[in-house]
Amino acid sequence: MNDIILGIESSCDDTSAAVIRDGLLLSNVIASQKVHEAYGGVVPELASRAHQQNILPVVSEALRQAGVDKHDLSAIAFTRGPGLLGSLLVGTSFAKGMALGLNIPLIDINHLHAHVLSQFIREEESDEVPDFPFMTLLISGGNSQIILVKSAEEMEIIGQTIDDAAGEAFDKCAKVMGLPYPGGPHIDRLAAEGDPNRFKFAKPNIPGLDYSFSGLKTSFLYTLRDNLKDNPQFIKENEADLAASLQRTIIDILMDKLERAAKLYHPKHITIGGGVSANSGVRDAVERLCHKLHITPWLPKRKFTTDNAAMVAMAGWFKYQCRDFCDISLPPYARVVI
Ligand code: KG4
Repeated sequence: MNDIILGIESSCDDTSAAVIRDGLLLSNVIASQKVHEAYGGVVPELASRAHQQNILPVVSEALRQAGVDKHDLSAIAFTRGPGLLGSLLVGTSFAKGMALGLNIPLIDINHLHAHVLSQFIREEESDEVPDFPFMTLLISGGNSQIILVKSAEEMEIIGQTIDDAAGEAFDKCAKVMGLPYPGGPHIDRLAAEGDPNRFKFAKPNIPGLDYSFSGLKTSFLYTLRDNLKDNPQFIKENEADLAASLQRTIIDILMDKLERAAKLYHPKHITIGGGVSANSGVRDAVERLCHKLHITPWLPKRKFTTDNAAMVAMAGWFKYQCRDFCDISLPPYARVVI
């Protein structure tokens, strides 16, 4: 066997390309876009322009690092959606043009499936992977979902956010604290030094397995506003405690529904995915919960938690085994259920 898949990811603000040969990752190149930092969030038009600048050098570098000639590729997998349409168009068009030029098959990938399947990325033959079925907590800048993963293609969402995603809660609260974008990693770093019980923020009370983070965001904002009236230095003086208390509340909300889901569905394994799964507190909490419920946790390597093409190539690898290819006329999509 010598099947080589090139993966291309351009759904938001990371341009990435990766190469997988016979299921093993050979390269994973990511160009993150710094241009958005000044705006405190991703500016879609700037993201799409930066993808145009980055895509060719990123793909060339991924092939170079893998030691693979483009004529040896077996197929190209690309993120078709969901994401920012202008960003997706760049990766989609590039993948189509390259596949057409090389006369090889195209594989369309659902970005959320790719996050779930990131658990299967192997850098060494000895790397272990979970077996199906399992439960995944997918937590990123755009999604917070609990998913039953029956196979690489068959996934069922059993709970999801009805408003903001967990990553948005991290980023928006960090923004009102004056921290740079994206705020999640800054909150994570500050939280390590702070007291998680110092401040209390609102937790949602909604039925079932769905999430909500908008109330927490408002409650965090009001705490800052009320305290800043008396002490203009309030944020600076309490930065670590605010971050730790915010992080603890987000984790409590996430774990509450994950525990309910695990007790209802009895999964053998729980995996996590998406940018927020890089969070130290989230990783510890998932391990603790799994230990309590006698479930095996599978935590992805941190480098595969945020947007990357290795997970797209991995999802492509699964589809390649079933010769599940797509037509060149398929357009990208901005929104989708899993
Ligand atoms: O999956 P991802 O790269 O893409 C989007 O969905 O856009 O996730 C990005 C999100 C951002 O909200 C970012 O703040 C969050 O992941 N994030 C973190 C950490 N690292 C990234 N949140 C909390 N703690 C972290 N260490």
